[in-house]
Amino acid sequence: MDRPLKNIWGIILAAGSGSRLGQAAGGVRKQYLEYRGAPLFWHSARTFSRVAGLRGLVFVFPPDDAQAMEKRVDQYFRSEDLGLARTVCAGGERRQDSVACGLRALPSGCDAVLVHDSARPFVSARTIALLIDALNQGERAVIPAIEVADTIKRVAGRVAGNEIGCGLESVVVDTPNRSGLRAVQTPQAFETGLLREAHALAGEHGWEVTDDASMVEQMAAHAPEAQIRVGIIPGEPGNIKITTPDDLKRLGETRTTIPCVG
Ligand code: CTP
Ligand code: MG
Repeated sequence: MDRPLKNIWGIILAAGSGSRLGQAAGGVRKQYLEYRGAPLFWHSARTFSRVAGLRGLVFVFPPDDAQAMEKRVDQYFRSEDLGLARTVCAGGERRQDSVACGLRALPSGCDAVLVHDSARPFVSARTIALLIDALNQGERAVIPAIEVADTIKRVAGRVAGNEIGCGLESVVVDTPNRSGLRAVQTPQAFETGLLREAHALAGEHGWEVTDDASMVEQMAAHAPEAQIRVGIIPGEPGNIKITTPDDLKRLGETRTTIPCVG
């Protein structure tokens, strides 16, 4: 594939239900929480628009909101032209289903795609630019990651009713060497064809993943002769994912918004 890549798109995932936030978000899906005057998903869109080399964005919303959100996204673009093409589609039940929906919504000729969680509103333009640079230097799959500060244990025995007894949540199995561990973030960048192929294989084999790179890793393990690798660029500690009620503190004063189209 010719480099530099000419047709790079972002997929902004906003089709989750925010179940781990519970009622802390006032019953509003976290992607719609308002932070500094705009919903979380729009913050990432703005940051993507500041990076050279990006052609457009696909916004993925929950199926029951997608139509209303399409109009809402049009309104945002009317008041704030990001200089990018865009399309809106409905997501699926699991995150990976929403990514598959986003991939189907890409225009033909899209060379590469950056898949991003709208729940990470603090992503920097620098991280996005580093990913695009790596793609342009020939990487086919590249993700941002940071070193882990905590020692991580592998554990076992977390069972309903706590059958391991003594009030324990679980027990330690072993301790992987921390220097070989990384915490990974989004956006995750891929040649479009490679990620589509990984999704096709995942469908065939029933692979369940929590990030896009894992799907490509499984594909690499499935077909070692293809010599597919997932590259890493340094992420930023500030690029957190809003996941639990505690994370809401990072947003400071938020106002909850429910999408309604005027
Ligand atoms: N996501 C999605 N479609 C899904 C599930 C998740 O587009 N079916 C998106 C979320 O909107 C979020 C990102 O993937 O931006 C990361 O997922 P996560 O933090 O797990 O968000 P939720 O699934 O919404 O939250 P929870 O797991 O607590 O329900
Ligand atoms: Mg989730």
